Amino acid sequence: YPLLSLLLIVLFLLSCSPLPLLLRAPLFLPPRQSRLHQVKTVDNSRTEPVVLVFVESIYSQLGQEIVAILESSRFHYRTEIAPGKGDMPTLTERNRGRYTLIIYENVLKYVNLDAWNRDLLDKYCAEYGVGVIGFFKANENSLLSAQLKGFPLFLHSHLGLRDYRINPNAPLLYITRPNQVEQGPLPGDDWTIFQSNHSTYEPVLLASTKSSEALAHLGSGPLRALHATVIQDLGLHDGIQRVLFGNNLNYWLHKLVFVDAIAYLTGKRLCLSLERHILVDVDDIFVGKEGTRMKVSDVEALLSTQNKLRALVPNFTFNLGFSGKFYHTGTDEEDRGDDMLLQHRKDFWWFPHMWSHMQPHLFHNVSVLAEQMRLNKLFAQEHGIPTDMGYAVAPHHSGVYPVHSQLYEAWKSVWGIKVTSTEEYPHLRPARYRRGFIHSGIQVLPRQTCGLFTHTIFYNEYPGGSKELDKSIRGGELFLTVLLNPISIFMTHLSNYGNDRLGLYTFESLVKFVQCWTNLKLQTLPPIQLAEKYFQIFPEERDPLWQNPCHDKRHKDIWSKEKTCDRLPKFLVIGPQKTGTTALHSFLSLHPAITSSFPSPITFEEIQFFSGPNYDNGIDWYMDFFPFPSNVSTDFMFEKSANYFDTEVAPKRAAALLPRAKILAVLINPSDRAYSWYQHQRAHQDPAALNNSFHAVVTAGPSAPRDLLTLQRRCLKPGAYATHLERWLQHYQPSQLHIVDGALLRSNPALVMDGIQRFLGITPIFNYTQALTYDDSKGFWCQRVEGGRAKCLGKSKGRKYPEMSPESRAFLAEHFREHNMELLRLLNRLGQPLPSWLRHELQSTSWS
Ligand code: A3P
Repeated sequence: YPLLSLLLIVLFLLSCSPLPLLLRAPLFLPPRQSRLHQVKTVDNSRTEPVVLVFVESIYSQLGQEIVAILESSRFHYRTEIAPGKGDMPTLTERNRGRYTLIIYENVLKYVNLDAWNRDLLDKYCAEYGVGVIGFFKANENSLLSAQLKGFPLFLHSHLGLRDYRINPNAPLLYITRPNQVEQGPLPGDDWTIFQSNHSTYEPVLLASTKSSEALAHLGSGPLRALHATVIQDLGLHDGIQRVLFGNNLNYWLHKLVFVDAIAYLTGKRLCLSLERHILVDVDDIFVGKEGTRMKVSDVEALLSTQNKLRALVPNFTFNLGFSGKFYHTGTDEEDRGDDMLLQHRKDFWWFPHMWSHMQPHLFHNVSVLAEQMRLNKLFAQEHGIPTDMGYAVAPHHSGVYPVHSQLYEAWKSVWGIKVTSTEEYPHLRPARYRRGFIHSGIQVLPRQTCGLFTHTIFYNEYPGGSKELDKSIRGGELFLTVLLNPISIFMTHLSNYGNDRLGLYTFESLVKFVQCWTNLKLQTLPPIQLAEKYFQIFPEERDPLWQNPCHDKRHKDIWSKEKTCDRLPKFLVIGPQKTGTTALHSFLSLHPAITSSFPSPITFEEIQFFSGPNYDNGIDWYMDFFPFPSNVSTDFMFEKSANYFDTEVAPKRAAALLPRAKILAVLINPSDRAYSWYQHQRAHQDPAALNNSFHAVVTAGPSAPRDLLTLQRRCLKPGAYATHLERWLQHYQPSQLHIVDGALLRSNPALVMDGIQRFLGITPIFNYTQALTYDDSKGFWCQRVEGGRAKCLGKSKGRKYPEMSPESRAFLAEHFREHNMELLRLLNRLGQPLPSWLRHELQSTSWS
């Protein structure tokens, strides 16, 4: 096989000699943007642009780096293992292109596609104006020199290069600023250069070879000093624009050019603006240990760097966070440093910590917490520190996330806080997933790390060596943070500004590096305006997604000891409404090992947390609906909210907090459900239901009055069962979902309850045959109480009303036919039994 694959590679990469001109003269062509064809739209404003990434495997390194950059930029993408001969994924959908850009981790997979697939892909790219990015990484099997199959382009591999520079005429340059040369050797000896004399190719990055001998294998010909390692194909050859990299993304400049390539090839649809906002918080003012704090000369340096930075970042101002209790607790020299800071208080922005740097989650009582804050505020007032910035930070992120409501309350009442920041939402790592949210009127912004902590105070003692810090600044993690985030709030500490003043070194170097290599416009804003800007850019982040604090060790450590994650349900009854969910709730509650949530006085006993505005109250509010379980492993707590089933956001929210929960859905014939809802609304005096017959409701056309259409939607929409279940299955495993046959629940509840107990894994099995009794006058099964009497559900459950008219039934059977077929396919796929009503419904409609 290795021989065979080598042969195939040899066949595909026709070796070339003699070589054409290495780089045509003049070296650079004037910039141009070519679109050879009238292109169809890839998508319109209603659809998000999506990148298709062909990776080598799910574990491949470069593939992961590509994805990491897309994720950091919050671009939508889909990964596929690059097909060899297999099927190309579907590229179009209802005459619309699905993907805005195609990225190949290994460009050879692209050029070596079989003719059919290649033709398909090329046609798609040309018709929809979709570009391709590809990487060529030589391996031990690659030839030294070869022509790229089907392209007027030659590759020369296994080269050592030096002195990297950017072609100022490359059309894709946007963020990348071309007037710099990265002097010195490039890492590794496995670089590939591209050569062509076709005018479609424009070099983007160029380098010299390390030595002239290294090019001996290129054959004779006029060797030019510069060779292209990244090129742009302008589409003049075959109508498709491409950007090809002669290496992977390891080298930092490739990441920068990659970001520009994405922007260029998507016509800036996937592109951040050039604006970048940074805010540097200096935490722990007055807090540091003796010997680590700032002296007078450090404060002077802080001021002078701030002034220097202002020339590059307009209004740049260090944001100082203080705990007043520790004022004047350093050495004499450091105490003078404290005074110097206060003397220059007007030159900085300020924000409060806790008075004594205590973690807010340790305070259960709001008034104790507020008292601590008041002391700090008093200190600020006494020392003329501004108190109106509206921003605060909590020590160790405590109380911010996971949310400790008491902190939010105290912040608002004492300080009028409107903005805070944390690294913990939704989790510290990976940093690219960090997001913001708004809770209780306080805007929480994501905070970024810059590699400086309280203990990193000497350049030579930087973890891993000082080179690591420089690497992070010069194109590494810190640089990428600024590149990929429109707004970055960095956390540093008092001690980073004393000693070797690493804080000053880091930000001065960073700002200079960014200005050297990019066209980014660095700016700053005070926190309140910054937060406003943040949520303007990312409005979709306003609503939080609550997670279980006990699923992340760091979160658990800053979660009040008085709170427990055990006050959460093990399973949910999600509805839909009118399928017998109340009966199921009451039967479950009879079980000695099952405990229901406390009834909510507001929403018909149901909590309705995941489906509506109650979610904004946070998880403390939710947990208060559950008792402390007496035995965590054997107690089964649950809640039933029947509108979860068809609420768009509910599955995502439920899965974020309760990823291991089991889910029960009760399904009856959707036509009967619709009718029951109509009767329910009549009973509640809904005018639309009182003034219109059921038939008029379900058959109403789009021009009918609004209230009628609202009622129609509530009758019909939940009945598209498969659509709603599929949404739950995007967040839960099929094994977590149990479909309850609502018709059987009505006719033989003991049988259904046995199935549910087995599904939940509850032992011992409770005997529902004994616990339930059929009540003739109610016409339903009820709880058996002392003396064999029946305790049934109230009047509103099991109402008496006339049968549905045959016309309406026929109309609805037709309306739900396709939905029911979908349900049949879904249940078959899941291996779940078909409810009797579904069989019956499909049989009767298939005859009609
Ligand atoms: P109707 O009142 O239209 O007959 P939900 O509790 O989800 O709102 O569902 C109400 C429906 O549950 C009732 O609709 C009724 O048909 C059904 N149901 C099933 N078993 C029941 C029971 N044992 N007692 C009362 N209603 C029951």
